[in-house]
Order: sequence, then C-alpha cells, then structure tokens
Amino acid sequence: MTRERLREIAAAAKSHWGYDPRLVAEWAASIEFPPEKQVFEAEGGWAAVIVRGDLCWLDDLWVEPAAMGRGLGRKLFGRAAAYGRAAGCTRMEWEADPNAVGFYEKLGAAYVRDSEPSEWGRVLPVLGVSLVG
Ligand SMILES: CC(C)(COP(=O)(O)OP(=O)(O)OC[C@H]1O[C@@H](n2cnc3c(N)ncnc32)[C@H](O)[C@@H]1OP(=O)(O)O)[C@@H](O)C(=O)NCCC(=O)NCCS
Repeated sequence: MTRERLREIAAAAKSHWGYDPRLVAEWAASIEFPPEKQVFEAEGGWAAVIVRGDLCWLDDLWVEPAAMGRGLGRKLFGRAAAYGRAAGCTRMEWEADPNAVGFYEKLGAAYVRDSEPSEWGRVLPVLGVSLVG
C-alpha cells in the first residue's frame, strides 16, 4: 500500500470514534514511516511496530470502519506481537485510544502507566503485553 493509503485507513479508523475530522486529517498527515518502523498490511487495516531493545513499541493499529468487527484487529495485533517475539523482545507496549482499551483488554493487555501528552495534548493509557512465557 502507498503511504497515502495507509494514512487514509488510519484517518478513517480514528474518525470512527467521532473526533473532529479536521484534527484527524492533520494528525493522519503527520504519521511518519521511519526506516526502523515495520509495517504489517491487510485488506482494510494495518499495524506497525518499532523495536527498541527488548521493547516492541506498537506504533499503529488501524482498521477501516467497513472492516471492523471481523477479527482483523486481532490478527494484525498478533502479527505485530509475533514479529516482536521473533526480534527477541520481551514486551509489547503502546499508547491506547481510550475507545480501544476494551479491545486490547480482550487481547490480554494490561495498563502500564499514563503516557506523556499525546496527539491533541491528551494523556493516554500505555498498555502492554508480555511476549514471553
Ligand atoms: C480497535 C480496532 C483496531 C479493533 O479492530 P477490529 O478488527 O474491529 O477488532 P476485532 O474484530 O479483531 O475484535 C477482537 C475482539 O475485540 C472486541 N472489540 C473490538 N473492538 C472493541 C472495542 N472498541 N471495545 C471493546 N471490545 C472490542 C471484539 O468484539 C472482539 O471480541 P471477541 O473476540 O469476543 O469477538 C478498530 O476498531 C480500530 O481501528 N478502531 C479505530 C482506531 C483505533 O482506536 N485504533 C487503536 C489505536 S490505539
């Protein structure tokens, strides 16, 4: 997928929670793809991680509204975790949108700490899962 398409999916996913479309568009345009970011694509969604030593940082997980509720988020999360495990990471962590916390809890994630101010100045829960055992 092109970066433009990846940003489009992210914007559509985020908009699903009812945020101001202008803020969402600006935010999506700012999503970066540095070389160390590993992207996992599927029809209607994508995820990305950055490996930092023994931590696998889940930087993105976006499923288009039309594709939600069919297990795609779970599948992409699993691919991200498998990549981190294979890279020798012991944990995967990420900043969670408050609306997605229930989804992550279903996947076994737990609260780790509050984030630094994130997009739109919000403090978000940092969630995590163990990649060992
Ligand atoms: C959160 C998101 C990735 C979930 O993707 P999805 O493909 O719809 O989720 P799945 O179909 O794989 O759902 C897996 C399980 O979580 C549940 N679930 C999904 N979204 C949920 C939510 N928002 N709250 C609580 N549970 C949720 C599903 O019912 C399913 O449960 P089951 O296994 O008992 O049937 C997707 O809704 C999305 O992209 N949302 C907008 C953007 C966003 O917030 N992304 C995360 C940024 S941190």
